[in-house]
Amino acid sequence: MGIRENIEEIRTALEKQLSSLNDIKQLEEIRQQVLGKKGTLTALLRSMGQLSPEERPAAGQLINAGREQISALLDERFSALKARERELKMQRDAIDVTEPRELPRIGTLHPNTLALDEVLAALTGLGFDVVEGPEIELDRFNFELLNLPKNHPARDAQDTFYVDDNTVLRTHTSPVQARTMLSRKPPIRIACPGRVFRADEVDATHSPVFHQIEGLVIDKDVTMGDLKGTLDALFKKLYGDDIETRFRPSFFPFTEPSAEVDLTCISCRGKGCRICKGTGWIEVLGCGMVNPKVLEMCGIDPHEYTGFAFGIGLERITMLRYGIKDMRLLYEGDERFLRQFR
Ligand code: PHE
Repeated sequence: MGIRENIEEIRTALEKQLSSLNDIKQLEEIRQQVLGKKGTLTALLRSMGQLSPEERPAAGQLINAGREQISALLDERFSALKARERELKMQRDAIDVTEPRELPRIGTLHPNTLALDEVLAALTGLGFDVVEGPEIELDRFNFELLNLPKNHPARDAQDTFYVDDNTVLRTHTSPVQARTMLSRKPPIRIACPGRVFRADEVDATHSPVFHQIEGLVIDKDVTMGDLKGTLDALFKKLYGDDIETRFRPSFFPFTEPSAEVDLTCISCRGKGCRICKGTGWIEVLGCGMVNPKVLEMCGIDPHEYTGFAFGIGLERITMLRYGIKDMRLLYEGDERFLRQFR
């Protein structure tokens, strides 16, 4: 068989292979089989060694021409396969930019935040400044300046997270009272929201981390009547004119006299329900007239000034406001629960 026929044979075999080929990797294998070191056309080129010097140039020309033809065939097929691959990929990845879609879901404010915003809006409306203090607090501010000296029984170590002998996680927002009295001159009218910590159990009404909103007013001639009037105004503003407060005597070392305050149950409006255990009242805060000893320790003359303070439990308010029966829901971050508050 002559060289021409040989080349012809290789080419027709190749054309046949290529016609049913869909895979680029296979195409490269075929290229090797023909043009590679051990390829059929390469073998033909090698066989030229056996030809006489006169025959070689013509044979060389034939083989080179065949090689070019075959290369062109392979390249053409390669481009066709590449184009097809691109086409398929574009089909797969196609995005219809005109397709209407659902907007991504955005977060909601936490019910505690919603309730706090309402309380702070009401308090700022009554002339209170919002002031914050640190959560990791010195013993001095959390206890001593609030008339709770070392070894005072109200400083129950079981309730307090100690960081070291002189540092605690604040057990209430009252230390912000002390900090403010030391840094501002009366008249003072502040509201201090924040996180507080107590070594408590976790159940439907207790958590080791919760929130309070402290109020402090100091001026000339401030009386218990102002305290009652302020709290009445606050809660009527928040929950309606039929809401009342009821004072019960209590004790806090930093206020004298002290009281615990109940609110008309905002769920049944005082008629009695499960939430208020049939009493029509809900306890929401502790308060009192600032103890003159505290004023003195904080650099305010108790003969010139008097004041009142209160500490509202935020979770209480939030749960009442939204009819939430288990406090744990406020901390678990369950999206199904949180999404309800818009
Ligand atoms: N700090 C008190 C508590 O955590 C509440 C309180 C605040 C009482 C201000 C009186 C005055 O229980």
